[in-house]
Amino acid sequence: MSLENLQLQILKTLDAQGEILDTKDFTLEDGTQVDQLVILGALNSLLSREMVEYQSLDSEVWYLTEEGKEISASGSHEVVVFNTIPEGPEGIAISELQAKLGNVAKIGQGKAFKNKWIKKNGANLVRAVEKVEDQTKEDLIVIQETGSHPNAEVLKDLKRRKLCDKQKVTTYSVKKGAKFALTIQKQATELTYEMMQSGEWKNQTFKKYNFDAVGITPPGGHLHPLLKVREEFRQIFFEMGFTEMPTNKFVESSFWNFDALFQPQQHPARDMHDTFFLKDPATTNSFPEELLKKVKDIHTNGGHGSIGYGYDWKEEEAQKLLLRTHTTAVSSNMLYHLAQQPKFTPAKYFSIDRVFRNETVDATHLAEFHQVEGVVADKNLTLGDLIGFMEEFFKKLGVENIRFKPAFNPYTEPSMEVFSYHEGLQKWVEIGNSGMFRPEMLLPLGLDPDVRVIAWGLSLERPTMIKYDIDNIRELLGHKVDLAMIKTNPVCRLDKKMGKELEGEESKAEPVPNPIH
Ligand code: PHE
Repeated sequence: MSLENLQLQILKTLDAQGEILDTKDFTLEDGTQVDQLVILGALNSLLSREMVEYQSLDSEVWYLTEEGKEISASGSHEVVVFNTIPEGPEGIAISELQAKLGNVAKIGQGKAFKNKWIKKNGANLVRAVEKVEDQTKEDLIVIQETGSHPNAEVLKDLKRRKLCDKQKVTTYSVKKGAKFALTIQKQATELTYEMMQSGEWKNQTFKKYNFDAVGITPPGGHLHPLLKVREEFRQIFFEMGFTEMPTNKFVESSFWNFDALFQPQQHPARDMHDTFFLKDPATTNSFPEELLKKVKDIHTNGGHGSIGYGYDWKEEEAQKLLLRTHTTAVSSNMLYHLAQQPKFTPAKYFSIDRVFRNETVDATHLAEFHQVEGVVADKNLTLGDLIGFMEEFFKKLGVENIRFKPAFNPYTEPSMEVFSYHEGLQKWVEIGNSGMFRPEMLLPLGLDPDVRVIAWGLSLERPTMIKYDIDNIRELLGHKVDLAMIKTNPVCRLDKKMGKELEGEESKAEPVPNPIH
């Protein structure tokens, strides 16, 4: 039955009867019933043409369960048992009844005994009454035919016995609409050039706009998992009163990336094999004059109680442009700007952005990754403050009970690797790097001698891969990434569990190379 045929039959019925009081009684010409949802579709289309009007009628309809249907067809178990027992004193052996009726025998016997319909005669069962009535079967047939039963008690009882149940159904009462007719005119959906040319549009009826129609989902952007985890980290920093550093420049000079951080020019990290240097342009020479001199001086001769490195510092080396190897390049620049204020004000900075290292690419290493970095500058900060900040920070990630191990960075002293105990692995695993920036770095920048700067860093990839259950970094970043993964991955909420997972990651994947030393 096509939709149009159904519509025509509805129109015909309306024409003959004036209205359809309840579509539950509506049948096709051949007597078959139509699903109410199909009727609704037909009605809506007729409604949009104003050919009909309708109202929804909500009601409850009783229906038989599978077992109920079985009983309405072949009788209730106790009656089946009774009927299977032949008349007369012989009766039937219990085992034979069992063999004939299976499960029905078991349930039916009990009830038939209770009703005193049957009794035992040795190992046989015999009838105790002449005839029985199958009230249950009759009640079920009433329900099957009318969708209800006049006796509410019966309904309650049969429902309790799981033979029937009720469901809500919506049916419709239908009346003729303003434009009622017995034929359905085809409606044009578009006003075409041809219709206008021929004047045909004057005779056309046009399909109405359906402003309630659900539109096609517009193609929209999707956040990469890294950006989602990044957002969670940002919120933690914001909660702790940090401001975000401008890290949108990937190209830095060796000066801000290394020299200003008191990293000597012959340090292995400055080798082409570890750092991407730019070819064109290869250098820059826009540095604060004063600072350049001071940095050269501290590297060559030392000062402020330091003996320096005692080598021939070359400006050409500092001029080399590179893809920053850590976000600390931005931190050094920010601290320089902080030092230029007429009066020092304490600062809390953070950044989460990309860094680049000339690594051999494998399942857990790419030539780029994201660093998360927190920096606090204030007078008289101590190592205790650094520990306190990190404890607070990692606690917000769900990582508690952290420990520290002495480490080395050219620009921090003391330096500490951050460890967390992993219950599952039963060992301490590294989760970050940290330290107090050296006076050889801070004093040339122009900060007051009593200003201390504490800082820590970790990677963004590691928690992201754990959170999204990705164990090859090339599935997270680069040309092999499955776009469907980016479109469908869920929002990220860092919770206590995240902390546990983060702690346990080391055994599984180490996507981020150890921070440079
Ligand atoms: N810059 C370090 C690295 O690349 C991390 C770090 C940040 C260490 C701040 C100490 C202080 O791993």
